Amino acid sequence: MSLKHKTILLIVTGSIAAYKAPELIRLLVKDGARVIPVLTKGGAQFVTPLTLQTLAEEKSYSELFSLTDEAEMGHIKLSRISDLVVVAPASADFMAKMAYGLADDLASTLVLANTKPVLCAPAMNPQMWAAAPTQDNVKTLTKRGVEFIGPASGDVACHEDGVGRMSEPTEIFEAIKKKLAQSNALKGRRVIITAGPTVEAIDPVRFISNHSSGKQGFAIAQALASAGADVTLIHGPTALTPSGGIKKTVPVTSADDMNKAVQAALPADIAICAAAVADWRVKEANTNKIKKGTKTPTLTLEENTDILLSLSQNKKRPKLVIGFAAETESLEKNAAAKLARKKCDWLLANDVSNGVFGADTNQILFLSSGKKPEKWDKLTKSDVAEKLTQKIVSYFK
Ligand code: CTP
Repeated sequence: MSLKHKTILLIVTGSIAAYKAPELIRLLVKDGARVIPVLTKGGAQFVTPLTLQTLAEEKSYSELFSLTDEAEMGHIKLSRISDLVVVAPASADFMAKMAYGLADDLASTLVLANTKPVLCAPAMNPQMWAAAPTQDNVKTLTKRGVEFIGPASGDVACHEDGVGRMSEPTEIFEAIKKKLAQSNALKGRRVIITAGPTVEAIDPVRFISNHSSGKQGFAIAQALASAGADVTLIHGPTALTPSGGIKKTVPVTSADDMNKAVQAALPADIAICAAAVADWRVKEANTNKIKKGTKTPTLTLEENTDILLSLSQNKKRPKLVIGFAAETESLEKNAAAKLARKKCDWLLANDVSNGVFGADTNQILFLSSGKKPEKWDKLTKSDVAEKLTQKIVSYFK
């Protein structure tokens, strides 16, 4: 894929590695991209606006309150016209601003107002990179969907050795191409994802639920949103915050609420049921707290709608219906039976007897009707999400 018709907002912040920004611009422009440079005050200590704009053949922006800049291109518009925002080099200070949502100059305001994917190429002293505040900021930004390339290991400008060097312009260029190819792969595809547990009331204070954290479903929602899909994430109570690229999130409590939200979100091209839906609800939940008495209360349960099965059999059935299977024994046999019973296209089975709930890793047995099961390596939940996204992209190719 060439970068023709792609617009990249390149933010150059204060690091000695800013000297590599002109080479990155040259590579991008040569491949057909439109590059709009934005220079911070710190960045301008290392590279001039004239160098950037000569190579980009575009005006270089730096002032938030410049009347001429505003007349030519408003700062919000600048963030809207781009397909991708690249911060290279990304200094420790600028990443902290991004993490905290500061907006005291043009570059940080653009990032805060931005709705497009962001790729950061950090560059700093190895101690600054390893410092807890920087690592916390990287975690926060990653959670919000920001991607990172590098930093690499080696000799840095201050003659210290370690991780902190900005990746080479050719590597950043390849990462940009990959990111843009990915961010288009599922453009226009509507996806419904269920995630997390459901909570079924016994009375106003007590409930029936399960240990699902929602991590796997949220990671899938984020990966699909990064691939350009139009994602509706319907989730039960979790401690997670959905990342920025997800188009719509619908928080629900019970299985019944989840089912209603799923039906309302149809039609869709893809449905992924990653939620741990409670199979039963209390038949008549008490409106008042059940008081302790002489008799131990008996709960009468009734079955909840099987959301996955109802999607598979729906008149508006999504083209690709994907389920999960939480098993504690006979994984392959039970999963194969579940795939047939739920009439879905793919099933990701996992053994939940060994601490998958709440963990950051998962081991999947992938089933597709009529094919041999695939045993995936133990992966992080975001890598599972990435692998599934690649499979979905190939399916729709
Ligand atoms: N599922 C659903 N609605 C339900 C129950 C389950 O959509 N009421 C979905 C889950 O999101 C998952 C798949 O069905 O994608 C399998 O869920 P799982 O809990 O493994 O299986 P159950 O259907 O509950 O069957 P069993 O408890 O017998 O294993």
